[in-house]
Amino acid sequence: DQHRAREKVLESLKLSREQLLEIKRRMKVEMERGLSKETHAIAPVKMLPTYVCATPDGTEKGDFLALDLGGTNFRVLLVRVRNGKRRGVEMHNKIYSIPQEVMHGTGDELFDHIVQCIADFLEYMGMKGVSLPLGFTFSFPCQQNSLDESILLKWTKGFKASGCEGEDVVTLLKEAIHRREEFDLDVVAVVNDTVGTMMTCGYEDPHCEVGLIVGTGSNACYMEEMHNVELVEGEEGRMCINMEWGAFGDNGCLDDFRTEFDVAVDKLSLNPGKQRFEKMISGMYLGEIVRNILIDFTKRGLLFRGRISERLKTRGIFETKFLSQIESDRLALLQVRAILHHLGLESTCDDSIIVKEVCTVVARRAAQLCGAGMAAVVDKIRENRGLETLKVTVGVDGTLYKLHPHFSNILCETVKDLAPKCEVSFLESEDGSGKGAALITAVACRIREAGQ
Ligand code: BG6
Ligand code: GLC
Repeated sequence: DQHRAREKVLESLKLSREQLLEIKRRMKVEMERGLSKETHAIAPVKMLPTYVCATPDGTEKGDFLALDLGGTNFRVLLVRVRNGKRRGVEMHNKIYSIPQEVMHGTGDELFDHIVQCIADFLEYMGMKGVSLPLGFTFSFPCQQNSLDESILLKWTKGFKASGCEGEDVVTLLKEAIHRREEFDLDVVAVVNDTVGTMMTCGYEDPHCEVGLIVGTGSNACYMEEMHNVELVEGEEGRMCINMEWGAFGDNGCLDDFRTEFDVAVDKLSLNPGKQRFEKMISGMYLGEIVRNILIDFTKRGLLFRGRISERLKTRGIFETKFLSQIESDRLALLQVRAILHHLGLESTCDDSIIVKEVCTVVARRAAQLCGAGMAAVVDKIRENRGLETLKVTVGVDGTLYKLHPHFSNILCETVKDLAPKCEVSFLESEDGSGKGAALITAVACRIREAGQ
């Protein structure tokens, strides 16, 4: 009957404990392949060195500019860091939009737009003509050769500006600043958002040695032993590694867990074949998975009285916030129907129950997959240090993590279950990753000055 037909489809999206353990195991294998010199070139999980080697120690100080590009919002920030007795951070920031034409235009257009926003911000803050050290949170996979050289490997998420891949983003930013001939900036550090988030949280909690983003995209970073970071000389101490775990599975190693819906979402994305793990987890794609399942149900007469509306055929109608709203426990079914109505989908009471169940299954799988990845990370840190048990904090940011009513709980439970020897706390970043980028910039400035 109809119920059984739907259940059968949803079964393919439910993962057993054994399957999750297997995913954890494969993640660990891929991490090692990314770190090793021999296999790095062909490894999808890139495990990129960040040249960030320490968490903040409270001695950093000064005024810094920060940019935060790659999440839902583009932000320009002024960050004032104080040390000593008045230790703390004060921030001012402004959000700017990046129109889709700009995200999909040329690199020059994109960076001119960014510089235009910086100019507006400086004027808004009454700081025109002031030149400050700048930390750039740039949330895409980059090969770094130092803190201030960062070559974009490939765009991910919604970005596709031409002429940027293979280029150093610091050079692209500096060239745009020079084109404008209005001010100069000293770009000191480029950091991934995971790294910025780890640093933001690390300022409050010294156990924070992992960063996690579950927003538009998904990714993690953590402190790895230098002797395991084969791409960088030196054996002593630790370095933060930007995993780029979104690309887990790009070599096919997750194919036995991907469903026809995952394949369909991937096919119609800006980057087919790429970021397969991310496409099963993050906000930019979960709504699309849901929509594909609803289309399948409707085609088979199991939903919406078998009538596919134009709305349902429209890509991107289910934004991240929709999944969070529809699963809110306080919501009565009538309100679920109201949300669907708002999306242009006319539903019966039964329809709304089905839609909600689909959302639950898709979000649950995302949180569990994320948990399996995280279990691999914390267990690796524990094993690196030869510890029987590890206490560690994960700094987290991203709209899906923060807004979804169940994601964080399921993630936490999964990590506990799959990595029982680790005591993991999750700490939400209050201030985004710009604060962390400024702290990294502050440390680099301090070291630079000491060396002079
Ligand atoms: C923000 C961080 O708070 O979270 C960004 O400052 C990050 O650096 C973002 O990219 C991720 O979340 P989302 O949901 O906006 O992609
Ligand atoms: C994408 C980017 C990665 C970023 C993540 C979260 O996966 O490639 O660099 O950290 O999104 O924003």
